[in-house]
Amino acid sequence: MNRRYFVLLACMVSACPEPGQPIDGFDQPPLVLFDASDEAMSAVPRPWSETSPPVTHDADPDLLVVLEREALEGACDAYRAGDHRRETRLRCGKWMFFYESFGTVGIPSHLLEVFQDWFQPYFGPSFAKMGFVPNPGAEDRIPLGLVPSTQRMGEMNTHALTCAACHFGQMPDGRYAVGYPNHQLAYGRFFAAMVALIRLGMNPEDEAVHPVLREALGPEVHQARQQPGFFIAIGGLGLNVMTRGGDILTEGGINLSPAEQLQFWQLRSGTMDFLTKPMTDDGVWTVSRIISLWNLPTQEHIEDASMPHALLSWTGIGESLMSFLHGFVAISGSAEAWEDGDLAPLAEYIYSLRPPPALDPHDPDAVERGATLFASTGCVDCHDGPSGEGRELYRFETIGTDTAMRAIYSPDDDGKLCCGLDVNGERATGMIKSPRLAGQRYRTRLLHNGALDSLEQLLCLAERPMEDLEMAQSSKGHRFGCDELSAPEKHDLIQYLEHL
Ligand code: HEC
Ligand code: HEC
Repeated sequence: MNRRYFVLLACMVSACPEPGQPIDGFDQPPLVLFDASDEAMSAVPRPWSETSPPVTHDADPDLLVVLEREALEGACDAYRAGDHRRETRLRCGKWMFFYESFGTVGIPSHLLEVFQDWFQPYFGPSFAKMGFVPNPGAEDRIPLGLVPSTQRMGEMNTHALTCAACHFGQMPDGRYAVGYPNHQLAYGRFFAAMVALIRLGMNPEDEAVHPVLREALGPEVHQARQQPGFFIAIGGLGLNVMTRGGDILTEGGINLSPAEQLQFWQLRSGTMDFLTKPMTDDGVWTVSRIISLWNLPTQEHIEDASMPHALLSWTGIGESLMSFLHGFVAISGSAEAWEDGDLAPLAEYIYSLRPPPALDPHDPDAVERGATLFASTGCVDCHDGPSGEGRELYRFETIGTDTAMRAIYSPDDDGKLCCGLDVNGERATGMIKSPRLAGQRYRTRLLHNGALDSLEQLLCLAERPMEDLEMAQSSKGHRFGCDELSAPEKHDLIQYLEHL
């Protein structure tokens, strides 16, 4: 045999460290020789073929074509009035995806205005430099993904994030696509800069702002303070916040301690602590990368693959899309009640999302060689469910990746969900899922914490950044194939992964 075949033996029977125990000397279990069987080949993920014709237009270089406003307008009214045709359901779902706030907690609208008026060089027009997609034709400089919410902060109007802020964007090839994980979104930097700039605008030396932010934002603050009218504007904002902002500047609001400001500031784009201020805070710092919504497994896929349930979110806690949506609405602090029937069009629309077909053709021979390697190298052992998603969860130690996320939702490490999230009886898993691989070619952040930028880095063809970085952002682990495969083999494997 001139090719070495390896399959992973997950966590060797005896030498398996307990969760929470440091792992001496190795961050991955040993590899053992095997052959690529027919069974393994038949489990290798392949692109999905379509059964029903598409209704909505979800990927295009022309943003207006993707937004298809005229088609979506009124679809939800029609749905609620009893028009339950597939077209109407999907269009209503797409409308919700872009424009429904769910009455969740948001960013004070006055703040967004002031930042556009005075700090646009930093944030970009409609916050484009923060990775938001400007809304064509909008007069208020509010990007797509931010909409007026029914929930206020104190008496201040707010704008809430919609699904589109994070799960829609412009892909590296220039097309806009729904379901695309917006890995350009500088979520942490956006929040940290907002909090810091309110303070620095009033006092550039304010010690309540972390020195790193004070220095980085110094030129912006200086430039804004030179403009006539700035002090009236920032003073007006301060007065509004203090008199009408409720507890906005307290622990429950968007106030961040200097240490927290730095944590937010250092988040890579496309990542965030999913459970922290200004939403529900689980008290632990974890970094989650935005997941693509393409090829979400339906109940049928779940049963075919004998999965316990849908395994949604990185730690696989979400049992179904519906329960995930209820959880999302709860985490975001919605004051309104949402029934299954209200959420059904959104769920159906999400299930319809597929990765946009590649613009440049693949080399079919390389793809097939890569598919064989995917089986023989043991990748398929863990990526054998729908669209390459795992059919079970893995211990972080087995994969070797950063373990900070183990404590998400459950800071006491007892599996019980904290902070009022214990609504569906779900339990924290403390484990990690293998993500779906569909649309892999469009991702610029990899792994659960977004610490890698490319498949070349994942397969150790290129150097990994931040391998030793702390704060939940280390890029170590998942070195499967790194030492076992030759460079040409790795390139074939990448061709295969990118065609999914
Ligand atoms: C502020 C950014 C943000 C917004 C807004 C957002 N998401 Fe997400 N979404 C994420 C992140 C980050 C994850 C990964 C979270 C984790 O597992 O820790 C995620 C995960 C998911 C998943 C799980 C996917 C999987 O394969 O496991 C689904 C489904 C989802 N989001 C749907 C939605 C829907 C629907 C909306 C709108 C109602 C929405 N999201 C709004 C950032 C966002
Ligand atoms: C022991 C199980 C296991 C094996 C073997 C395995 N993976 Fe994974 N894979 C995972 C898990 C779990 C993750 C998520 C890890 C994380 O983010 O911390 C993952 C993540 C990935 C990702 C990143 C996807 C994303 O969206 O971030 C890719 C790509 C991938 N695996 C491909 C492969 C390939 C190629 C092989 C074989 C060379 C392989 N995997 C072997 C379990 C496995």
